[in-house]
Amino acid sequence: PLAQVGVIGLAVMGSNLARNFASHGHTVAVYNRTVAKTEAFDTEFGSTGTFIAAPTLEEFVAALERPRKVIIMVQAGKGTDAVIEQLRPLLEEGDIVVDGGNAHYEDTRRREAALRGVGLHFVGAGISGGEEGALHGPSIMPGGSRESYAALGPLLEDISAKVDGEPCCAYMGTDGAGHFVKMVHNGIEYADMQFIAEAYDLLSAAGLTAAEIAEVFREWNAGDLDSYLIEITAEVLDQVDAATGRPLVELIQDAAEQKGTGRWTVQIALELGVPVNTIAESVFARSTSGHAGLREAGRGALTGPDRTITVADRAAFVDNVRAALWSAKVVAYAQGLDQISTAARTYDWDVDLSEVARIWRGGCIIRARLLHRIRDEFAGAQLPTLLAAPSVAAELAESQDAWRGVVGVATTAGVPVPGFSAALAYYDTVRAERLPAALVQGLRDFFGAHTYQRTDRAGTFHTLWSGDRSEVDLIDA
Ligand code: 6PG
Repeated sequence: PLAQVGVIGLAVMGSNLARNFASHGHTVAVYNRTVAKTEAFDTEFGSTGTFIAAPTLEEFVAALERPRKVIIMVQAGKGTDAVIEQLRPLLEEGDIVVDGGNAHYEDTRRREAALRGVGLHFVGAGISGGEEGALHGPSIMPGGSRESYAALGPLLEDISAKVDGEPCCAYMGTDGAGHFVKMVHNGIEYADMQFIAEAYDLLSAAGLTAAEIAEVFREWNAGDLDSYLIEITAEVLDQVDAATGRPLVELIQDAAEQKGTGRWTVQIALELGVPVNTIAESVFARSTSGHAGLREAGRGALTGPDRTITVADRAAFVDNVRAALWSAKVVAYAQGLDQISTAARTYDWDVDLSEVARIWRGGCIIRARLLHRIRDEFAGAQLPTLLAAPSVAAELAESQDAWRGVVGVATTAGVPVPGFSAALAYYDTVRAERLPAALVQGLRDFFGAHTYQRTDRAGTFHTLWSGDRSEVDLIDA
């Protein structure tokens, strides 16, 4: 019998995905460039499902039923192009090549166009949920032709996570849409984690131990903040180092690393002109943490408050931090979704934000109760921003006093909260009647004759700053 699907690349993600397909009753062809890896996979998992372990790419391709569905799970970048080059002559019109890695959506657009030109479908599919997700049910964000989704979608939906019986997999749009949505997912993931880290820092500064903070996170996880990242925060904080008996978190080096998807999110947001300051601050917070020389110089030269927060009512403070975390989280989701809808307009993708929120409810790293609400808010409604959804605006109206208070207390105590304060600055900026951008325009006109518009009449104006300071309307002139 032929295989319904094939997986190329048997590192952990590829191997787990192949096993996931098999455990759903599909016959799976597997191939790895190093044959020993294919053999090792076969030895270890061959009896757990129906696999065709192919030693060569030719045999792999011949083992697949048509239209062939080939999922590439190799290190993003040059490896993907090399595999596509080798596959291309072996495939036939209508076959579907899927890239399940964290590819840059511009690469996906390029590869999709090239393969479309030779009659093949190329699907850039974002897959989230880490190793466990790949094995037991990830969230899957596929982009590409609608035709390819008709053939491939049911298979991917089958192995995806399920929430309320619905698969966490849906068609995201043409060419790079799927990988774009996955990239923004990761950007939001960075922001979520930064906010959690700030909450931990504030509670530590207020005198709570790691174990006490773990307990706080467990309580939060029973409420509106209910999410995977909040849940595992409690577990990480509870971990005690066997050698020293101290909380492990206090022994881990405080330099956060990144593989780059958060950075991409911000780079592209800059190009699209979408303000995602919470995500940007999260990326910068990671890079600042890793700047050993800068931090050493800062520690030696800079003075300030000693990072102690004195609280009269501990429970009240904890709840204020919860409100700040919740509010900032809502802002980060609003910014990420704004970036997706801006890209959809730019690239002519038909992305449904309600569907994006729906498939993020399970399987992925940012899965959270909040996403159920976001799905509902965007269903059938054209919201210019999540923050404008009446129920969200009402809750932010209520939580903002606590949020402002926390940012204020943190600032006074010298505890950096770049995420919480960026979110608040965004909130206050977008709700402002007038912004000091007017002065920026005046300055630009002063030194560079860059012109400005007026609020009281139409035209493009310039003041003769170095002349008699009269104003000219450049359209009239
Ligand atoms: C996921 C994760 C996954 C990976 C991140 C980590 O959705 O399953 O986002 O893609 O863990 O890329 O990113 P950093 O190494 O940049 O933190």
